[in-house]
Amino acid sequence: MAGIWNSMIRRKEVHSGAEHSRMHRVLGVRDLTLFGIAAILGAGSFSSLGGAIFHGGPGVVWLFVIVAVACGFTALCYSEFASRIPVAGSAYTYAYASFGEIFAWIIGWALLMEYSIGNIYVAFSWSDYFTSLTDRMGWHIPPHFCTSYAEAHKAILEGSTNKELTDAWNLAPRLGSLRIILDMPAIAINVFITWLVLRGIKESRNFSNAMVVLKMVVVLLVILVGGYLVFANDLTGNWFPANAAGESRFMPNGFEGVMFAVSGVFFAYIGFDAVSVLAEESKNPQRDLPRGMIYSLVICTAVYILLSLVLSGAVHYAKFDGIGDPLAFIFEKDNLNVGWMQFLVAICAVIAMSSVLLVFQMGQPRIWMSMSRDGLLPAKFQEIHPRYKTPGFSTLLTGLVVGVPLLFTDKTFVLDFTSIGTLFAFVLVCGGVLLIPNRSKTKGSFHLPYINGMYIFPLIMLSTVLIVGAFYPEYFTGIMQWNLSADEMRAAGSPEQIADKLTSLRTYNFSTLLFWLVCIVLCIQGFRKQWSLIPLLGLVTCLYLLTGMTANNWLWFFIWFGIGLGVYFVYGIRHSKLRHGEEGT
Ligand code: ALA
Repeated sequence: MAGIWNSMIRRKEVHSGAEHSRMHRVLGVRDLTLFGIAAILGAGSFSSLGGAIFHGGPGVVWLFVIVAVACGFTALCYSEFASRIPVAGSAYTYAYASFGEIFAWIIGWALLMEYSIGNIYVAFSWSDYFTSLTDRMGWHIPPHFCTSYAEAHKAILEGSTNKELTDAWNLAPRLGSLRIILDMPAIAINVFITWLVLRGIKESRNFSNAMVVLKMVVVLLVILVGGYLVFANDLTGNWFPANAAGESRFMPNGFEGVMFAVSGVFFAYIGFDAVSVLAEESKNPQRDLPRGMIYSLVICTAVYILLSLVLSGAVHYAKFDGIGDPLAFIFEKDNLNVGWMQFLVAICAVIAMSSVLLVFQMGQPRIWMSMSRDGLLPAKFQEIHPRYKTPGFSTLLTGLVVGVPLLFTDKTFVLDFTSIGTLFAFVLVCGGVLLIPNRSKTKGSFHLPYINGMYIFPLIMLSTVLIVGAFYPEYFTGIMQWNLSADEMRAAGSPEQIADKLTSLRTYNFSTLLFWLVCIVLCIQGFRKQWSLIPLLGLVTCLYLLTGMTANNWLWFFIWFGIGLGVYFVYGIRHSKLRHGEEGT
């Protein structure tokens, strides 16, 4: 037993990138910031923002602020790792060097969700904008060929009023009793991106920077034109829509409604950590990587807050149900009615999301190659294509991991699954930084400031409880309410919908109570061990976001996690290079 445990926590020695890097160190802070924006700004802002506004109303901006804080702290923790171990990699490499094999494996497994499963969502969103574009050009793709089967089926089961989705189901051709419904543009873009990555396309620095500038220009245009029209058309009343009781509220569905949007909002921030894979190509990784991550986060946060305000001002929040292309939607005839903006946004979204697909689809084989070199995955994963000199097998497998689920998953499921997996990886990164020993400051390199959290952390937690209790007491009374009120039951509708609502209420209450329990433990341990404040706050904010996950998300997450552990114990632990006294690269 002790032997197995020792194997699980064996650590890899990682040499400094400075000695080993064969890559050109050409990237400065500006390039890293732009790369961060290239990975961050995509389907989250162009697509999932619609669903987030539908659930949370205009008040979803608060969630953008909370998630930004969580990601900011996490970025600082990533930076601490990146400056200690400045080699290309990601949380996987850091964990292998700092905590041992099993943690590295778990993070590598969780990153699969961020990189591959996340791209399923981006491909679906790409398709939404592509069809919006073709519609405007007069080429109407039948709804059953641009919708996923699961999405159309779910819409029918839930009695959705979204005509695109219900038409997809009702008008689909049949093979026996099977309806032929598939999202062809999403499948096509995945095949195309896989082919590009296999052929060895390299996004040159200038090309990638140009894409980012294009994205930013179009998003700023949406903010300016949309924002102007919100005031010019006197639509500011949309910022305080009526709730179920008829009162005007910035958060019409309460804070629970806002928290329901957590996956969509968190997804919008995923990608800042991808900057860490460029460690070996940065001129001064210790100084510039943290800056690149933080600057890109700050810029994207400002953009998200403004976008949420413009979208929820332009159109009543409840109209965003099932809208996959919200930035174009607000300019439709029934809304702000600006045809050229709808067209421009759709073109730019298609280009912008292709860049996100490329970043992640190129990143996934890189992580698998590292894991394979360490012996945790079969050697096939590092096989280089004889002609294209790219990791052929890993690239094609990534294409399949993204492509096959396109046939039978729906967007919401994928979004939740990606967000829970990535948040989990962030929790491990922040928790990990708490456990590594302090080191002395070296000139010119990033150093996570050590602020003793012994007293400050419990004080912050106590103040939070007091402030929330004073200004938003429903938060605490709500988590003690384990049943729906008569009004809520009436509003929920059918018995199945009541059961669903009850399950989500109880899951939320249970995870929130668990969260506060963990906070108490962290206060005690932080006090005893004088833990550093920044990783503590990162840990707590990421854990808090996890309280927004539904029972179904947790179920799938644990199944996924169990499979991951199974693969490790069946394969990784036995084939690890460290077991044979060799060292991975
Ligand atoms: N944050 C990235 C996006 O929104 C994953 O597409």
